[in-house]
Amino acid sequence: MNKVKGLKTKDLLGLRYLSAEDINLILDTTQSMKEVMTRPVRKVPALLGKNIVTLFYEPSTRTRTSFDVAAKNLSANTTNIGLAQSSVKKGETLIDTAKNLEVMGYDGVIIRHKMSGAPHLLAENIKGAVINAGDGCNEHPTQGLLDMFTMKEKKGDLAGKKVVIVGDIAHSRVARSNIWGLNKLGAKVVVVGPPTLIPIGITEMGCEVSYNLEKAISDADFINVLRIQLERQEEGLFPSVEEYHKLYGITVDRLKKCKPDVVVMHPGPINRGVEISSEVADGPYNVILEQVTNGVAVRMAVLFLLLSGKKPMLMKKGL
Ligand code: CP
Repeated sequence: MNKVKGLKTKDLLGLRYLSAEDINLILDTTQSMKEVMTRPVRKVPALLGKNIVTLFYEPSTRTRTSFDVAAKNLSANTTNIGLAQSSVKKGETLIDTAKNLEVMGYDGVIIRHKMSGAPHLLAENIKGAVINAGDGCNEHPTQGLLDMFTMKEKKGDLAGKKVVIVGDIAHSRVARSNIWGLNKLGAKVVVVGPPTLIPIGITEMGCEVSYNLEKAISDADFINVLRIQLERQEEGLFPSVEEYHKLYGITVDRLKKCKPDVVVMHPGPINRGVEISSEVADGPYNVILEQVTNGVAVRMAVLFLLLSGKKPMLMKKGL
């Protein structure tokens, strides 16, 4: 159990479990970490001597690398294990894998897994911190946090801001973490997509549903565009990617009918010409690469709060 006046659990499993106070603590700490990232030497000794392992059973470019950079910026030792190199390939269970890592002296495990709930299972079975880096269609909490941090950087307090999440809501852990987190910070969330990609009951999470993209985005402050996850879909959920682009793709023509300061976001990786046009992905409306930079700072903040044992207020005085 984390003893500092900070996060109330030893793990970060999902934004559904965090209070607005927890989320704001992480976002405030992220601001301090961004300052560290601007220094000529982007390294502080906050996690010196801590060992962290990233256990990724699904592909990743941004999340795994940014956790690795974040941990190194805090002076932790890091090890990366992918599915191909792991003894899971020989039949070892996830719990046995984690218990073996724990007795080697790992303080924290960052896990991405195709099964929803895999990080929760680990958290119950090891003493170290478990951080969910994406579990099935359930949650991707650090993505939700970096999205909210980026939104706050662009437009300040999120209370009352309208965030439209567009696309494959059914298969999206990013959408779920955004909905949980944004609700807690008082934003209004609307999800838009083809009816086959909007799950029944999603409104119970605290969002509205629209099937009319242009109407939904007309007064949006933020449009968070989701990747079409063909790898998680059974066939036939929409006719073709061309058709999807025509009906739900974010294009400059569509953005011209929105608020002039609308901000377009995407968790990456992007499918150019499917959910977003190249003109938007490379143009002035989007903050996609800023999200990636903020991802390092958010992950530094999460690692610091879970593993340093220091009071967050120390951050204000410098690390
Ligand atoms: N946004 C995100 O999770 O990207 P990766 O799959 O590359 O980690």
